[in-house]
Amino acid sequence: MNRVTVNASKDYNIYIGSGLLKNCGEMIKNEIKGSSSFAAVITDDIVDGIYGDTVIKSLNDAGFKTVKYVFPHGEESKSLETYSDIINFLARNHLTRTDILVSLGGGIPGDMGGFAAATYLRGIKFIQIPTTLLSAVDSSVGGKTAVNLPTGKNLAGAFYQPDLVICDYDTLNTLPGEIFADGCAEVIKYGVIMDKEFFDFLKNNSIKDNIEYVISRCVELKRDIVDSDEKETGIRAILNFGHTVGHAIEINSDFEISHGSAVAIGMIIASKGAFNSGLCKADFSEEIKDVLIKNSLPVSCPFGSRELFDVSCSDKKRSGDTIKLIIPEEMGKCVIKKIPLTSLLDFIEKGL
Ligand code: GLY
Repeated sequence: MNRVTVNASKDYNIYIGSGLLKNCGEMIKNEIKGSSSFAAVITDDIVDGIYGDTVIKSLNDAGFKTVKYVFPHGEESKSLETYSDIINFLARNHLTRTDILVSLGGGIPGDMGGFAAATYLRGIKFIQIPTTLLSAVDSSVGGKTAVNLPTGKNLAGAFYQPDLVICDYDTLNTLPGEIFADGCAEVIKYGVIMDKEFFDFLKNNSIKDNIEYVISRCVELKRDIVDSDEKETGIRAILNFGHTVGHAIEINSDFEISHGSAVAIGMIIASKGAFNSGLCKADFSEEIKDVLIKNSLPVSCPFGSRELFDVSCSDKKRSGDTIKLIIPEEMGKCVIKKIPLTSLLDFIEKGL
């Protein structure tokens, strides 16, 4: 088992190992000081069917009284309605500030449970138990929590760090191939933006066969960013590499194209667009493409530049008439460049 410690507004540990789920109750009891022995588990129907009983049993065996809120899986549930149901559920069950909310599952239970934990009673104890590769390497770490609004993804949310993250990578064995691949896109992203050696490792090695090392390395890299810029006033934005166009792809496809697949395509467009626009000296898109293909990710974009541009204009990384782009200057090193919104269409065209 590996341990990575985050030192942000809250210090907390991330444990990465095999077989942790069945011990999660003891881990929570030992780790979370000043908490009561009452825990609400928030999860979706698919994850509940596979891991709900294990987690509840482990919590009960460790002396926790538990309640569970299960919502239908999928992006449609990441809504104000589900959020409101969750906090009403917490209130009906009389959770207090020292009680614990446990988010079990992928990014959606994590983001929504996190936002509920951040806002219910102005903040209660919060544990993340990620069960997808994407949530293990990205969304469970760093405290971004949110729900979608009808006008866009993640538009209502809070920075709220968990008190503990328990990542049992055995849970990845039950993931459908395309959901595992989704997380691979974020793994590859870390190599491109922060760590050439790690990118080279991914070129030559399988993510699945090296899962403990891969998750631990990604979490360490994310920890370094979160420790230095928790609220994304600067460097944290590099984690959004490939995401501006990626979000536009997701939205244009009505979320038929998953987040990871969209980010994969977005990373290629961003690298190629940056080179062809003279914003960096080398074109890394072919090198990135090879690693994406090796990990069963798509590399061509089904939408035109105008469709992508129209949606990108309402991206959170826009500020006034400019938008921040993340540009790979060297392999393993990215920079943030602000370009006028009027240049974005041309940038996307040059990346397609
Ligand atoms: N997923 C990007 C971040 O946490 O900043």
